Amino acid sequence: MSPWHDNFTPPCPPAPTPSGQGECVINASSPPAVELHGITKRFPGVVANKDIAITVRKGTVHALIGENGAGKSTLMKILYGMQKPDEGTIAVDGEQVTFSSPGDAIARGIGMVHQHFMLADNLTVLENVVLGGEKLYGIGAKARKKIQEISDAYGLGVRPDALVEDLGVADRQRVEILKVLYRGAKILILDEPTAVLVPQEVDALFDNLRELKSEGLTVIFISHKLGEVLKVADDITVIRRGTTVGTADPKTATTKQLAELMVGSELPSPETRESTVTDVPMLKVENLTLLESGTGGAR
Ligand SMILES: Nc1ncnc2c1ncn2[C@@H]1O[C@H](COP(=O)(O)OP(=O)(O)OP(=O)(O)O)[C@@H](O)[C@H]1O
Ligand SMILES: [Mg+2]
Repeated sequence: MSPWHDNFTPPCPPAPTPSGQGECVINASSPPAVELHGITKRFPGVVANKDIAITVRKGTVHALIGENGAGKSTLMKILYGMQKPDEGTIAVDGEQVTFSSPGDAIARGIGMVHQHFMLADNLTVLENVVLGGEKLYGIGAKARKKIQEISDAYGLGVRPDALVEDLGVADRQRVEILKVLYRGAKILILDEPTAVLVPQEVDALFDNLRELKSEGLTVIFISHKLGEVLKVADDITVIRRGTTVGTADPKTATTKQLAELMVGSELPSPETRESTVTDVPMLKVENLTLLESGTGGAR
């Protein structure tokens, strides 16, 4: 079977024409939030990313899916300036950029919430948010006001004076999201944000993502939970063994199609052969008596 289903299209071309021709260009007047082209990253003995192409439209939730080790986190670390690509280009809002550190990415409005949270447990929410960003709104009343504003705007329900060690994972995640918004992120990368959440928390997170989207922010959401992806994503890019193998439309794609694109082959169908379990007894035991050793008695 070809890896391309009817509702899959190959990865977007590197540079959509300004005239707005082609499937990848939604709004000719606004360039994509992110365009990655030809991204390759090698580690000793591993090619983590190979010739990756992704176009992320502004104001959308874009899911990046792939099996464990497919290269999703590496790619996002490249976009966030934590890793340098060996080859390829990155464009943000239509402008080509090179990042040497996360600081460079943050300056271009990109924020990342990692697979493993990075908050200091023994500090308060406010302290965690302002840490390293003291120059933005200081560490006092102005910072507190800003935190409250962001929390209210996106329904994050963050309590500035709570100690992080007293918070559950969903609250910690909201603090991490607030932390990147506080730094001015317009493009948020969330690496496997639902892996640590229970279903109600996932729904609450998705509500937050919709709020962000409605304010024109862009979310790149890494996952391998395909049902969730279909629920929340506007666009889907599939990565297999380090390279982009296609995009999918969540309105028409099924979880089975996505899974097949992720693994690169047709999944086995549920067994339809006749069951080997029958009602014919294979062994019948009646009136069995076992003598207890030493007593000579029967039980
Ligand atoms: N810093 C590193 N040094 C060496 N190899 C690495 C490094 N980071 C990632 N890799 C390797 O690159 C490949 C892609 O890893 P990556 O973490 O990007 O995958 P992933 O798609 O995020 O997987 P997961 O779903 O498990 O999070 C893997 O083989 C991994 O072992
Ligand atoms: Mg990962």
